[in-house]
Amino acid sequence: MNDAATKVLELGALGLDEGASVLLRLTLAGLAAGERLAVRGSAPNLAVHLRAWARAEGHDFALAADTSATPRSASTDGAAAGGNEADRAASQRDGDRSPCVAVLTRGTASAARWAGAERAGRAAADGTVAQPPQHWGLAARGAAVEAGGPVFHFALHERDVVWSDDAGALYRAAAAAQWDPATAIPWQAERTHPPFVEDALVQVLTYLIENETAALLVPAKFCSQLHPHFREVMQLLAIQTADEARHIEVFTRRALLAREQLGLSTGGGQASLQTLLDEPDFALASFLLSVLGEGSFVHLLGFLHVHAPDRCTAEIMRLAAQDEARHVQFGMAHLRRHAQHDPTLLARLRLAIERRHDALRHTAGLNAEVFDALVVLAAGELSPTGIARGARAVAELQAQMDAGRRTRLRQLGFEAGDAVALSALHTRNFM
Ligand SMILES: [Fe+2]
Ligand SMILES: [Fe+2]
Repeated sequence: MNDAATKVLELGALGLDEGASVLLRLTLAGLAAGERLAVRGSAPNLAVHLRAWARAEGHDFALAADTSATPRSASTDGAAAGGNEADRAASQRDGDRSPCVAVLTRGTASAARWAGAERAGRAAADGTVAQPPQHWGLAARGAAVEAGGPVFHFALHERDVVWSDDAGALYRAAAAAQWDPATAIPWQAERTHPPFVEDALVQVLTYLIENETAALLVPAKFCSQLHPHFREVMQLLAIQTADEARHIEVFTRRALLAREQLGLSTGGGQASLQTLLDEPDFALASFLLSVLGEGSFVHLLGFLHVHAPDRCTAEIMRLAAQDEARHVQFGMAHLRRHAQHDPTLLARLRLAIERRHDALRHTAGLNAEVFDALVVLAAGELSPTGIARGARAVAELQAQMDAGRRTRLRQLGFEAGDAVALSALHTRNFM
């Protein structure tokens, strides 16, 4: 009891059911197996409670032989002594009065419990492993994972398939660029355009909303399949779905500013989007959605920004285009990395475009109502001269989309001729 090696924990009046176990565990964690801890305290039945607690935690318990013994001090060092001066003073005062009730000898059980624990990589961005095991599960990257936990079934668990070194930076950029629809959009801005322009706009917004819905559901699906070890990619996919949720909100709200109903949704448009939702492969889906679809949408939103009939619409399109540019950036970054590690990827991407083109061969692609609405928006009037100007603007938009797709295809490693051919096979629905 008075052995110099015996530390003392002063519990004062604190009972086991009031948090004393926290102090006991913290103090015992600092001892080696076999070292002893004298516990002093005045809580009712403390010795009885301590005996049960020690048995459950795997420590030896002995009643103090001499309850008047007053070894001092160990209780006042470190966290076990309590967090502040008042606590320490109280503990010291109580300690002076409290009898020593028991001596615990640290057992090996708590150390043994963690003996088989495994570090789940390192927390830093470069701390991922190539194939995190499924039993790391939901553990934070870098945590020590207790052996014997549950085994998960994350389908996307290979770094080469999902990872991008840019993911963390892109996530932080996305988090910093979030905007509040309530304050970022001038909802009350003046609208002076004629009703047929408003009709055209509502039709385009209706089309945008269903495309944004696909763009939300695709990353949401893959996010739920991704091993959380790839934290930055998970966060990025999550914030991307939040971006799309906001786009759906602002497009809907703008459409309803002057109308009570939305426009038309066609079977062809939905068929095109269904092929995106049905694509089970992460790389192929990101390729079709982000690189080709959202890449084309950046141009479309830019077009709508320029030809917006009012300031409210213009601002919505500008902000949505900014978000889409990030989505494209991630798609490009992780596919470029993936292509470096997998020489078969480009061939698979090519097949994905061709397969999708074949599946959609008998559908109209972009519906005539959307095409016409884009022309009317760019024209701003219904005179033949105005419509001709609008049609030229839409043709120019399609040429820009095609050029953008070809550039990105080249950046992924496709030859110039292939880039031209594959871009031409992209869905007429744009997304
Ligand atoms: Fe979007
Ligand atoms: Fe997007």
